[in-house]
Amino acid sequence: MSKAKATHQSGESKEETASAAGTEVRPSAGGELHQIALAGHSRLTTNQGLALSDNQNSLRTDPRGPALLEDFILREKITHFDHERIPERIVHARATGVHGYFELSTSLKQYTKARILTEVREKTPVFTRLSTVAGGAGSVDTPRDIRGFAVKFYTKEGNWDLVGNNIPVFFIQDAIKFPDLIHAVKMEPDRGFPQSATAHDTFWDFISLTPESMNAVMWIMSDRTLPRSLRMIEGFGVHSFRLVNDAGESTFVKFHWRPMLGLQSTIWDETVKIAGADQDFHRRDMFEAIAAGDFPEWEFAVQLFTQEEADRFPFDHLDATKLIPEELVPLKTIGRMVLDRWPNNFFAETEQVAFCPSNVVPGIDFSNDPLLQGRLFSYLDTQLSRLGSHNFHQIPINAPKCPFDNQQRDGHMQMSQPAGRVAYEPNSLSESSPRETPLKSFHSAAVTETGEKGRVRAPSFADHYSQARQFYRSQGVHEQAHIASAFVFELSKVDHLHVREAIRRRRKRRSGRRLPSPCPRLTRARRRALQKPNLSPSGATRAICRAPARACETVLPKGRTRMTYQGARAQPRETETGRFFAVSKVRLDRFLKRLFGGK
Ligand code: HEM
Repeated sequence: MSKAKATHQSGESKEETASAAGTEVRPSAGGELHQIALAGHSRLTTNQGLALSDNQNSLRTDPRGPALLEDFILREKITHFDHERIPERIVHARATGVHGYFELSTSLKQYTKARILTEVREKTPVFTRLSTVAGGAGSVDTPRDIRGFAVKFYTKEGNWDLVGNNIPVFFIQDAIKFPDLIHAVKMEPDRGFPQSATAHDTFWDFISLTPESMNAVMWIMSDRTLPRSLRMIEGFGVHSFRLVNDAGESTFVKFHWRPMLGLQSTIWDETVKIAGADQDFHRRDMFEAIAAGDFPEWEFAVQLFTQEEADRFPFDHLDATKLIPEELVPLKTIGRMVLDRWPNNFFAETEQVAFCPSNVVPGIDFSNDPLLQGRLFSYLDTQLSRLGSHNFHQIPINAPKCPFDNQQRDGHMQMSQPAGRVAYEPNSLSESSPRETPLKSFHSAAVTETGEKGRVRAPSFADHYSQARQFYRSQGVHEQAHIASAFVFELSKVDHLHVREAIRRRRKRRSGRRLPSPCPRLTRARRRALQKPNLSPSGATRAICRAPARACETVLPKGRTRMTYQGARAQPRETETGRFFAVSKVRLDRFLKRLFGGK
């Protein structure tokens, strides 16, 4: 059967069949097939527009002889191929990106001059990239991991990037710790594994020595990090930002995305099976939903508060390891986002898109959160090497959809051709040169800063446990069991006993209660895991799992008052398998209740 026939029978898309219509297939001397363009059909060319006579054979001295260096066509093609990959993101490399729009329903005019937050019913185009954090670009979609939730709003006043996550708190309080956190969670450098997993020594070693991570750790051990679909995750800006109004007054704000499909998770048992059966589970789910016209939608909500209110919080809102419970500051829904268009090309859009927390519009400003302050530097810096040129803002997915102009010039991959002799400002030689606009432009909030310079952590950042405890206690019985199981699984993968002990001791210190030492169940689990160091994940799970699997009624609790922060919108559901691995469940439950004071 000819190759053309074989391809045809394998079920081509209409577009591919149509483009093959103006071609003729000719076999050649060596048995290879040539698809020849008939009159009017598009011609295959080099990047210089030179039509190719043969795309099957390189230039040789003789049909069986050596290839010639002279073959510029071969060299152009291979050279381009050699450079097809660009460095993947240092974090959040694996992702799904979708186009859509944002529509405002309630104006925040009182608080901000940002048009995107004041012009009701205005539709603003967005590109949203939902990612995992730790794994490489080719890693599985469903590890236990935080999901990145990055939205680029192409507003009339410039691009605004809201670069958030699907959990509202972060592991660290200061940007100077971010490289350490990521080095600890990524593959261990001597062995090159595990890929996209927190269940290993270096991660838990770092965590055991970083008490501020305790709240985020409770969240990542929960079902939150096992989303059922990317259409069912929440999104959080995490940090406090500022809104600034026309009068220059500023108000603090936290940003939230809430999925209209409700918040849903898989359980570990399902997650493990899905990971084996379909590595692209989330990307495929989103692709198919968009193709079917089943467009995912999120509500956009804000928490607004003043400096005076913030001063009364029992925590510091500038500390990214803390959230602001809705009981303190209710959420105000102000709009919605709909994702309705899959990118034309994954690389050009999802891969080349560059989000940056410092991309803001007039009326939105930063808080002093020391983590946010570091992020304002990091993203542009890394994108310079990832995208290879400081002109990456000209790539269509990154370019603002409103006019932009300045006197920055030249450099690698300059795509625009600025005309005229003037490339400086101020000038008197070009009337059409762009000029400053003091009124309708970006102004930093006029905030008075006083204090003593120094490398110090504010004492108001020192409570690492209250919200961790609050989160654990807000969970239903099944969710607490899942957290317990997750801890057992993760710690059973840690070879160093002192690291496991350190995690246990930290909780003991937090609870102030006497723990049985050593916790008998954990010790047995530890022994078993250590006796079988080379077990596969499911094998290791079974090895430490002696309690029988139990029916799991719902993933989420019934009739419990949880931190309304999340719980109000969470939808109980029957699990698909109806069962879960009760990994040392009973003992671990007791263990965690002792640590966190039970329900
Ligand atoms: C100091 C702390 C942090 C640093 C230094 C940092 C740095 C980075 C870097 C270098 C990237 C890769 C960017 C690229 O190559 O385009 C990245 C991506 C990302 N970061 Fe962070 N990050 C920090 C904290 C956070 C926090 C707290 C969040 C959530 C609130 C977050 C959310 C994201 C997301 C969603 C992406 C992926 C963006 C995309 O989809 O392209 N990061 N971060």
